Amino acid sequence: MNPISGATRLAAVIGAPVRHSLSPTIHNAAFEHGLLDWRMVAFEVTAGSGADAVRSMATLGIGGLAVTMPHKADVAAAVDEVDPAARALDSVNTVVLRPDGSTFGASTDGAGFVNAVGAAAIELAGRRVVMLGAGAAGRSIVDALGRAGVADIAVINRTPDKAEAAAALAPMARVGTIDDIDGAGLLINTTPVGMGTDANPVDASRLRPDLAVADIVYHPIDTALLTAARRLDAPTVDGLAMLIEQARLQQQLWTGALPDAARMRAAAEAALSRRGQTPS
Ligand code: ATR
Repeated sequence: MNPISGATRLAAVIGAPVRHSLSPTIHNAAFEHGLLDWRMVAFEVTAGSGADAVRSMATLGIGGLAVTMPHKADVAAAVDEVDPAARALDSVNTVVLRPDGSTFGASTDGAGFVNAVGAAAIELAGRRVVMLGAGAAGRSIVDALGRAGVADIAVINRTPDKAEAAAALAPMARVGTIDDIDGAGLLINTTPVGMGTDANPVDASRLRPDLAVADIVYHPIDTALLTAARRLDAPTVDGLAMLIEQARLQQQLWTGALPDAARMRAAAEAALSRRGQTPS
């Protein structure tokens, strides 16, 4: 790794709690691999101080922020400009400090998911999608799928109001039922079901070889849902792929270069295995 010098640029992840964030591991692996004179650290920033953190970027010359809970909405309101996804979601996970000192906020989660599906050679154009869950991650996925050419998005959620709100983010999205899986070509789990357990968010008998399955849960990396799909030789996308792809887009916004996915993934896998894949 480049030695730290007076010219080293700083990126930071802000959140509360932040100490278990994989972002420093993933981003520093990419900075090192790309020989970029950047480092990332984690700042524990208490709820309500997200806007202060954004203001500190210009003061301290912090080139990029990754933003996690509970700051995504506060940061969306605090930056000077946002991208269309961040505007639609009222949520920012990435901030860039521009040379003129102004700040630009983006939401890379949904686009990262779309890129992860593409990297698995799963064609989205014309595909019928069923999405389980309608939380923050699910909303970002609906928003991005809305621009990816899918034919239909059926959102299924325990709380119907949240399903409706998520479905309103894309013209081809609607509230669905579990039977929509029968006509679908992609099933996405955006609920935390399967995190740290072998629970499956759907009955495995619903899966088919021609139903691609994506899970945003990444501990364990091989969730019960993905394992059941692979048993049928169905194409799968794991949660780490989305995490890495959204981080690549963050780094592209900060440095201008799209970093190597394999190196970032290897670093994340090593960190997860060191912590025994226990939920953070
Ligand atoms: P957020 O992303 O907003 O922080 P979350 O707690 O991670 O929310 O939950 C994400 C989604 O998974 C939500 O849609 C949640 O359903 P509700 O809207 O009814 O809260 C869903 N979810 C969480 N736990 C679940 C469970 N045990 N079974 C089914 N759905 C669940």
